[in-house]
Amino acid sequence: MHLAAVAAHKEVPFYQPQGRECEIFEAAFRRRLPVLLKGPTGCGKTRFVAHMAAKLNLPLDTIACHDDLAAADLTGRYLIKNDETVWSDGPLTRAVRRGGICYLDEVVEARKDVTVVLHPLTDDRRILPLDRTGETLHAPDDFMLVISYNPGYQSVLKTLKPSTRQRFVAISFDYPNAEAETEIVARESGLAAGACAQLVRLAGRLRALKGQDLEEGASTRLLVACASLMADGMKRDEAIEATLIEPLTDDFDVRAGLRDLAQVTLG
Ligand SMILES: Nc1ncnc2c1ncn2[C@@H]1O[C@H](COP(=O)(O)OP(=O)(O)O)[C@@H](O)[C@H]1O
Ligand SMILES: [Mg+2]
Repeated sequence: MHLAAVAAHKEVPFYQPQGRECEIFEAAFRRRLPVLLKGPTGCGKTRFVAHMAAKLNLPLDTIACHDDLAAADLTGRYLIKNDETVWSDGPLTRAVRRGGICYLDEVVEARKDVTVVLHPLTDDRRILPLDRTGETLHAPDDFMLVISYNPGYQSVLKTLKPSTRQRFVAISFDYPNAEAETEIVARESGLAAGACAQLVRLAGRLRALKGQDLEEGASTRLLVACASLMADGMKRDEAIEATLIEPLTDDFDVRAGLRDLAQVTLG
């Protein structure tokens, strides 16, 4: 292989596709359509975006949304510098000026005025009006807006309105199937595939408890963490306690139940 090709390949973060998401994302990019990724936490959404950005050779800005994030945090604001007021672009404005992917993670967490800013960017106008400066930015062809959210946290307040969600090409994510997940966990952690397959089996059992004892099952991220600690020499049960039991619940009795489940599943 050519040296430059090796270098370029190295920079693309590993991502194991679950279906046709790579093709859908590429087509959406070509047709300048924004994309919405839905799925539980730790199932590969962020990794997918990083992978696609590298593959399409686009800069990537990721913004983790939280309940205090307002539109001005994305667009920008006037700041006082040496007795002068100067405009300072927010991360969304910077991305629209520059091009590339702007990824708003957990967008439903953000304040309501954020969606207002996103609307003109997500229809065929592809503009970002900056009320404060009077400027209207036109997104370059290689600008792409990507948002994600976790529909699992059922809450009437925290969901996307149809008028917002119907602006996006949407892709559903879930935990990978057992074979794929085993490969991911082995590759990410360096732990032997056989041991990873066992952890994936346990995860399947834990995920079955979602909605009963657990709000959310063990994520692929936690499996990678567990396998990484084991690859680092930690005893299996200790690693499981720290990654697949403690993070899932604070309930004492449920944790005891999970411990039993791990013993029964793994022996
Ligand atoms: N399909 C996948 N290919 C490669 N790694 C994955 C995949 N799914 C999950 N992972 C692993 O799980 C971790 C968590 O995934 P992440 O993308 O951060 O989840 P999310 O953004 O959905 O919460 C990643 O850092 C990676 O190690
Ligand atoms: Mg993420």
